[in-house]
Amino acid sequence: MPQRRDFPTGGEVASEDLVGREHTLRDLYERVYVQGNPIVLSAPRQTGKTSVIADLLRRVRTAGGWGVRIDCSRATSVEDFAELVAAETYAEAAGRRDAFAKLGDLLRNVPRPILYHADSELALAFHAPDRPVSVSHKLTTALGLADRLADEKKVRAVVVYDEFPTLRKSSDKIYDQIRAELQHANKSTAYVYMGSEVGVLATLFKDRRRMAFRLGTTIGLPPPLVSEWVTYIEQRFRELGLPLATDVAQRLISFTGGHPRDLMEACQHLLTLRTLARATPKAIELAQEKTYWGLERNFELLWELIEEPKGTRETAVRIATAQRVYGSGRSAMAAKRSVDKLIDEGIVRKVSRGQFEFTEPLFGEYVRRTRAR
Ligand SMILES: Nc1ncnc2c1ncn2[C@@H]1O[C@H](COP(=O)(O)OP(=O)(O)OP(=O)(O)O)[C@@H](O)[C@H]1O
Ligand SMILES: [Mg+2]
Repeated sequence: MPQRRDFPTGGEVASEDLVGREHTLRDLYERVYVQGNPIVLSAPRQTGKTSVIADLLRRVRTAGGWGVRIDCSRATSVEDFAELVAAETYAEAAGRRDAFAKLGDLLRNVPRPILYHADSELALAFHAPDRPVSVSHKLTTALGLADRLADEKKVRAVVVYDEFPTLRKSSDKIYDQIRAELQHANKSTAYVYMGSEVGVLATLFKDRRRMAFRLGTTIGLPPPLVSEWVTYIEQRFRELGLPLATDVAQRLISFTGGHPRDLMEACQHLLTLRTLARATPKAIELAQEKTYWGLERNFELLWELIEEPKGTRETAVRIATAQRVYGSGRSAMAAKRSVDKLIDEGIVRKVSRGQFEFTEPLFGEYVRRTRAR
């Protein structure tokens, strides 16, 4: 086990640092693992999707099931994706990371009938020494593998497609192929589809001609409660030997708007400052500034992302400065295109009719500080 971080700022967080997700985890466990229902988990960047899923899969394994996570953003082509799915699935089923690579050796050295049916099909699709195999056959074999193996071994499996919307960069047709395959591969396996581009994900699952009506109920990750954050932050500072005065935690939460990643950054900065000089009078303000500056590079990237369609940045400025988005001299159509883009990217969410807010409030702060004139 790696050493516990003071405050995890980036990457998967361990169960003991995962704030405010117990309810969601129980819900996911029941729906996906116990009931076998497909789920779409849709939440903006850096709000804990991957960490929640890692915890879910730990629970699934503890209960004797299989948990497979495929990070779709790692695939650079359809063939690559097929291989990734096959490798991750086979590793879980065989109980070792390198099982898929080893399968090739097995194929060369063991008479074929000795391999299990599903094993030999997989081996022949990916490691066939004597004939080329089409990409689409590889994909079909890989996608159906978890359910075939789980059914054969009489276990239940949960397969997670993380960063699912990124697959559209490999191929337009890939979602149709996945749907065609997975809608029948659910005897022993349930699926979770997730990603941060919440609008793209929604479109994939809403459009009845494409991704499936049957393939999933959408759930989000609402921000943890303020009280959950306060309890966690105060306890953690106490454990680290630097207990906080009343309402310090609350101030950090307000400053970051409770955005999980940004808040963890703020806690880590405050901890470092207080470790260096216990009684710095302006420690909180300094921690806040450091948090903001540390995130500025990310914010620049987000800003680049919303260059198109024309007027989207202007809309972002309007939202950041609490001005009306519609009826501001632009055509309603153009304003809507901008809003859609911001929602698709998970940058803003709708609060009520014509009212929007940033999912990462400090990005709103960045827009106010550097882009609003
Ligand atoms: N519930 C939470 N409790 C504590 N920290 C969290 C929580 N959610 C997110 N974080 C913070 O966000 C960081 C990223 O978490 P994670 O990778 O699980 O999120 P994600 O939504 O999958 O991110 P991405 O959009 O990059 O895929 C963590 O390292 C941690 O700092
Ligand atoms: Mg993630």
